[in-house]
Amino acid sequence: MNEQENNSPNHVAIIMDGNGRWAQKQGKPRKFGHEEGMEAIRRVTMRASERGVKVLTLYAFSTENWKRPPQEVHFLMQLPILFFDRFVPELQEKNVKVNMIGFEDKVPKSTKKAISKAMDQTKGNTGMVLNFAFNYGGRAEITKATQALCRKVLNNEISCDDITEALIEEHLFTHSIAPYQEVDLLIRSSGEQRLSNFLLWQNAYSEFYFTDLLWPDFNEEVFDHIIAEYQKRQRRYGAV
Ligand code: IPE
Ligand code: IPE
Ligand code: MG
Repeated sequence: MNEQENNSPNHVAIIMDGNGRWAQKQGKPRKFGHEEGMEAIRRVTMRASERGVKVLTLYAFSTENWKRPPQEVHFLMQLPILFFDRFVPELQEKNVKVNMIGFEDKVPKSTKKAISKAMDQTKGNTGMVLNFAFNYGGRAEITKATQALCRKVLNNEISCDDITEALIEEHLFTHSIAPYQEVDLLIRSSGEQRLSNFLLWQNAYSEFYFTDLLWPDFNEEVFDHIIAEYQKRQRRYGAV
């Protein structure tokens, strides 16, 4: 359980959904929604960092999103390049550090390069961690951890009884954001009320907030409102 200051969430995770519908509502191709969604990312990143959030995890591309038409997948793969080109100076100004969780396979080289460049440029920053979930899937993450642990048992590095929750967590992508692996507040836009394979382990005791707003319409005021709602909740973790 994370130590929380002023009842504020340390780790906020967002399923940024509704870009396509936002664009279609205006008779535009879906990619316009993804592009506009970047502005929402910038707004929320700035506000979250001002509010003392420690880690902001944003679901940008799921392991299931490969099922989309090739031209949309291609566009989504270019977005990190566009985003970091535009916003790294502002992230620097706000002392924000970029991190990434997800699988590298199938991600184009130029995208991987842009991501590692942004991580490198911001690695000295000590403020909020802006953590992108890119080619991320919760089940695949747990499967990967299981395989790694199995290999360690077979190599006699550990015994089965050494496998604890803490050791499993060490083998999840989110080990890179320790000690804030656990999600405190999960937000999903666009009115859908499901996890879509996002941080399955880490959301075990998070508070959920669903809004009908489409992601490109998400702004600072909405974020503040959701934080205020979170602060009214009582988290019991199974106790009384
Ligand atoms: C979320 O918006 C962005 C990604 C999944 C990459 P969508 O593209 O899912 O938008 P809708 O849900 O179709 O409106
Ligand atoms: C979840 O949104 C993935 C991201 C926001 C990156 P989707 O739009 O892919 O989820 P489903 O298909 O509606 O569950
Ligand atoms: Mg969607």
